[in-house]
Amino acid sequence: MMSVGRSLFVVSIVLSVSTVHSCSSHSLRRALMRLDCSAFLYPSACAKEARKIATEREFGTWGAVVVRDSSFVSNRSVFWQFHDVEPYPSKCSVESHNWVIEVFRTGWREQSLEKNQIGQIANLVIEANMDVSAVDLCPISFLRELVKVSPIVDIESHLMFLQDKASKNLGGQWNALLVKFDEGVDASTHFGFDFPHYFYDSRSGFCIKSISNGNKLTLFKIGYTSEGDEELQQGF
Ligand SMILES: *[C@@H]1O[C@H](CO)[C@@H](O)[C@H](O)[C@H]1NC(C)=O
Repeated sequence: MMSVGRSLFVVSIVLSVSTVHSCSSHSLRRALMRLDCSAFLYPSACAKEARKIATEREFGTWGAVVVRDSSFVSNRSVFWQFHDVEPYPSKCSVESHNWVIEVFRTGWREQSLEKNQIGQIANLVIEANMDVSAVDLCPISFLRELVKVSPIVDIESHLMFLQDKASKNLGGQWNALLVKFDEGVDASTHFGFDFPHYFYDSRSGFCIKSISNGNKLTLFKIGYTSEGDEELQQGF
C-alpha cells in the first residue's frame, strides 16, 4: 500500500517553448498588439508594461519577455521554457511592431508590479557596488552547483534537466531563460524582461549565471501549482 502512495507522487512538468504566437484571450491579445516596444527607452520598461497589461486583464501574477525581431527567437539567441501555470490562459504570445511579446502567468496571488526581479537585482547590485552588466547572482548554493554542469548540447533538454532538478530538490516550480550574447549584438537593446520576485527559503528565488559559450542563464522560481499552497507561503 505504501508503494502505491509513493508512485502517485509524480512531479509532472508541463512546459512550453515559445516559438508559436498564440493567445486565447482576445482582450489580452488586442492590448498587447497595441504595445510598441520601440517607443520605450529600454526593452525591460516595455516588458514591465506588458506585465501590467496582463495583470489588469487577468487575475494573478504575470511575467513578461520582449524580444526585438523574431529571428532572435527562431535562431535561439533567446530561448525560454516556462511552465503552464493554471488557471487558463497561462500565456499569451504576440508579435507586435516587430517585437515578440510574451506574457506568462506565474502564480495565483497578485503581486505588486513594483516587486520584480530586476528591482531585487538592482538593490543587490547597489548594495554590493557592482557593475550591472557583470551581474552574476545566484544566492542559492544548490543552484550555483547545478548550473556548473556540462556544456549545452540540446537547449531544451538541458533546461528541462535544470528545472526538474531545481523542482525536486528545492520544491516549487522553476522557469528558465537563456540568452546568448553574440559579439556585435547589444542584447540590452533587443531583449528585455520583467519577472515577479519569488522567494526560496527567504532568499531570492533566482539564479543568474554566465554559463558556457557566452550564454546567460536565468533560472527563477514562480508560484505554486495550487492556490492553497501559494496562500500558505510566506514572504511574497
Ligand atoms: C540571430 O538573429 C539575429 C537577428 O537577425 C542576429 O543578429 C544574430 O546574429 C543571430 N544569431 C545567430 C547565432 O545566428
